[in-house]
Amino acid sequence: MPILKIAKIGHPILYQKALPIDKFDKNELKQLVANMCETMLDANGVGLAAPQVHVNKKLIIFRTPDVIEDESENQNKEEKLELNVLINPSYTNNSDDFEDDWEGCLSIPGMLGKVRRYKKITYRGYDLQGKLINKTVDGMHARIVQHECDHLNGILYLARLADPRDFGFTEEINKYYKVQNEKI
Ligand code: NI
Repeated sequence: MPILKIAKIGHPILYQKALPIDKFDKNELKQLVANMCETMLDANGVGLAAPQVHVNKKLIIFRTPDVIEDESENQNKEEKLELNVLINPSYTNNSDDFEDDWEGCLSIPGMLGKVRRYKKITYRGYDLQGKLINKTVDGMHARIVQHECDHLNGILYLARLADPRDFGFTEEINKYYKVQNEKI
């Protein structure tokens, strides 16, 4: 599977509105998802939106922590990252509560920003088989979905900084703050 080229800040595709996908379960779409996964893993990212690989479609992929409990081994918990595919995603906020936290973006390499996001959201979208997915989530999961949905609306996290000064080189930010360095 090929690793795709990631569009960087300044490329016009990152500022366009993505188009909805009307046909699911097509080989072309499956191939795109497989290539996006390969690209995201190669770049050590936890999320990727189709416009970031120059495809102007409403499609996002992301990884979320998934705790698997192994009952036979008594309290043996294994944390795995689950891969999610969401076609034509949308979300609503469950309240006006927000949270500020650091984010990186594969399209803004080497930089971090402290971004304001809704704490808890309910999102919906479809998987590759056309099955409806509807989830209420909070924390990092909610943050990733909001970040990726923004990509589909041509919005980069810079537009949502908690404060304009909350942005800088990963190297510098890591020096002065304790930061979880997730690229999404
Ligand atoms: Ni991003």
